[in-house]
Amino acid sequence: RQSIIIDTDPGQDDALAILLALAHGDALEVLGITAVCGNISVKSTAANALKVLALAGREDVPVFMGAAAPLVGELVTADVLHGEAITAGWDLPPSAVEPRSEFAADWIIETVLANPPGKVTICALGPLTNIALALAKHPEIAGRLKAIVMMAGASQGGNMNAVAEFNVFVDPHAAARVFAAPVRKVVASLDVTKTFLVTARELERLTATNNRINAEVKGLLRLYEAYARAGAPRPLHDPAVIAWLLAPEIFAGRDVNVEIGTAPGLAYGQTIVDVNAVTGRPANAHWLTGADKNAFYGLLAAALARG
Ligand code: BDR
Ligand code: CA
Repeated sequence: RQSIIIDTDPGQDDALAILLALAHGDALEVLGITAVCGNISVKSTAANALKVLALAGREDVPVFMGAAAPLVGELVTADVLHGEAITAGWDLPPSAVEPRSEFAADWIIETVLANPPGKVTICALGPLTNIALALAKHPEIAGRLKAIVMMAGASQGGNMNAVAEFNVFVDPHAAARVFAAPVRKVVASLDVTKTFLVTARELERLTATNNRINAEVKGLLRLYEAYARAGAPRPLHDPAVIAWLLAPEIFAGRDVNVEIGTAPGLAYGQTIVDVNAVTGRPANAHWLTGADKNAFYGLLAAALARG
């Protein structure tokens, strides 16, 4: 059983990733959820994480509030620039549970240190601010983590500018720190997640069973349904991270060097991937390059069908 911390900014796709992890209690122990600003404010992402836990009947999993802004500059939320109403479909009732009082980055440090070396994996589903703060305050945690598995970046075109993906664009300075840290990194970028388009077929698969979770997922995916109906389906990103932990064999990938563009300008937030290994820089990440979409949605649909 793998012990994981989910660092997240829910986000509809973050919500589905959390549900996927919770449905696999046999394989994954969710130690806690750390909320970060990104899609929306950190207050709202923490509240949304608690709503998802309530839906899954897992309010025993603690939620910690993290960074309210990126390391440098102002927060850019998905509402403004992602072109999506990221709050759409959040009809879940508010949870009666509050976030814990400890700051997320401190709890990450404490938890990693309290576990045996190589035990804890961080699943990063939002901007990497909390993780960068934890690494800055206590760099030794890098050597104690099993891995950081993240949804981040793009090498074939971005969703925020021509080259940058949202999570890296929101806090490229944090991403630069995380990519520089001596820890195993597995990256599900837009290169892979852009293939996970939600068409009528996927909507049907994800909501086929008539249980409580499926009914709420229908609401959460309302926006995706509208896009699919308009002939412009959108992809689900974040569940790829959990899917990789559960079934790495459905993904292809390679070890590469990744550097982050932090200079203001056209390439702000770019993940510069040395695909041809011409820089001589050592590989610092396992970059996923492809996935079996059918198997990915099979995994997700089965998890949601469990109710
Ligand atoms: C990422 O941006 C967020 O809006 C999604 O939740 C995902 O983590 C995709 O670029
Ligand atoms: Ca996210």
